[in-house]
Amino acid sequence: MLSIPRFATLFLLPLLFFVQLTGGACIPKRAGVAPALSGNAVTFGAGTYPRATRLSNGNLLGAYTSTSNGENIINIVISTNNGASWQAQGVATRGVGDIDNPFPIQLSSGRVLVAFRNHSKDANGNYTFFRITVCFSDDLGKTWQFLSQPASDPAGPNGNWEPFMRLSNANVLQLYYSRENSKTDQDSLLRTSTDGGATWSTAAVISGGELSGNRDGMLGVATCGTGQPLVAIFETVPVGGQFSVWSVRSTDDGKTWGDRRQVYQPTGTNNNAGAPQIICVGGTTLVASFMTDEDTSAHQWPQQAAMKILTSNDGGITWGHKTTAFAVPGFWPGLLTLDSTSFLALADHNGAKAQKIVLN
Ligand SMILES: *[C@@H]1O[C@H](CO)[C@@H](O)[C@H](O)[C@H]1NC(C)=O
Ligand SMILES: *[C@@H]1O[C@H](CO)[C@@H](O)[C@H](O)[C@H]1NC(C)=O
Repeated sequence: MLSIPRFATLFLLPLLFFVQLTGGACIPKRAGVAPALSGNAVTFGAGTYPRATRLSNGNLLGAYTSTSNGENIINIVISTNNGASWQAQGVATRGVGDIDNPFPIQLSSGRVLVAFRNHSKDANGNYTFFRITVCFSDDLGKTWQFLSQPASDPAGPNGNWEPFMRLSNANVLQLYYSRENSKTDQDSLLRTSTDGGATWSTAAVISGGELSGNRDGMLGVATCGTGQPLVAIFETVPVGGQFSVWSVRSTDDGKTWGDRRQVYQPTGTNNNAGAPQIICVGGTTLVASFMTDEDTSAHQWPQQAAMKILTSNDGGITWGHKTTAFAVPGFWPGLLTLDSTSFLALADHNGAKAQKIVLN
């Protein structure tokens, strides 16, 4: 038995009682694992592929793609009320070509970056050049300039797709994206930058390198903090098969990756689950999102997909509590942590929308 001096017990008891009465005011509430939709979805923007990040001033900065007069536009939106509503903030770039897949992030300097795919096509609509381009803004997304082109490849099978950025524990900017090696083989790559995205390392393969004939793509990355693994989530499709969701993990902040395991296999037959993202809520719960056409028998992928989420409280080993965030049509989903118990689900649901979800 622990020998606690009696005077200490006398001192501690009223304190415990006080914490209970006040709901443990100074102890942050831990996120649960059971998702519940909170309120109605709000408009994020008139377009598709919504993504968002938290700024250091507490506002939320979002990006999405729209098209107008033959141009693609990377739109920037802002929310000053924790995602309850969004307003136009600026345009990161616009141009003729296959310009899409925006992903915003703020650096510790305060500068904001957006990475996006920036592909050229010829008059027949055939790809001629593939690029991942990064633009920057020093006024929180109002005005933008070109910064760098971390990946570029002439057409052939060499597509570069779906950039995702995060800052490592050592404040190194990491850029993850997917690159085709052939029509049936695609890998997840990582480049790093120690000068705020101006110059980039060579690319390291973090998933798919050992597999030819698997298309790994559309990845997102999250960790629940120091001592917890980094989990990269992605879709993969074997030749002639269907999309499902997988993950790899890193215990050294992104230097090495392994432990490839399946996160989600769609129900039914010949159904798909893909386009995943991942966040941590409350320092304990990983939330994964994806889109799946398992709810209809239409086999129209991705138009007949719904956005669903899963949660894990063991670092992404086991997943459960499947919940629909956006019914059909809900595609190209994204996620953003709001606070220690809630997050936003983002998807193209007849335009880019944001749905608050609480973890109980
Ligand atoms: C795409 O990349 C090209 C080549 O670097 C660049 O000139 C162009 O401005 C980029 N397009 C957009 C829309 O940013
Ligand atoms: C380019 O587009 C045309 C018209 O759609 C098509 O017939 C042709 O095969 C394409 N070329 C290549 C190299 O893919």
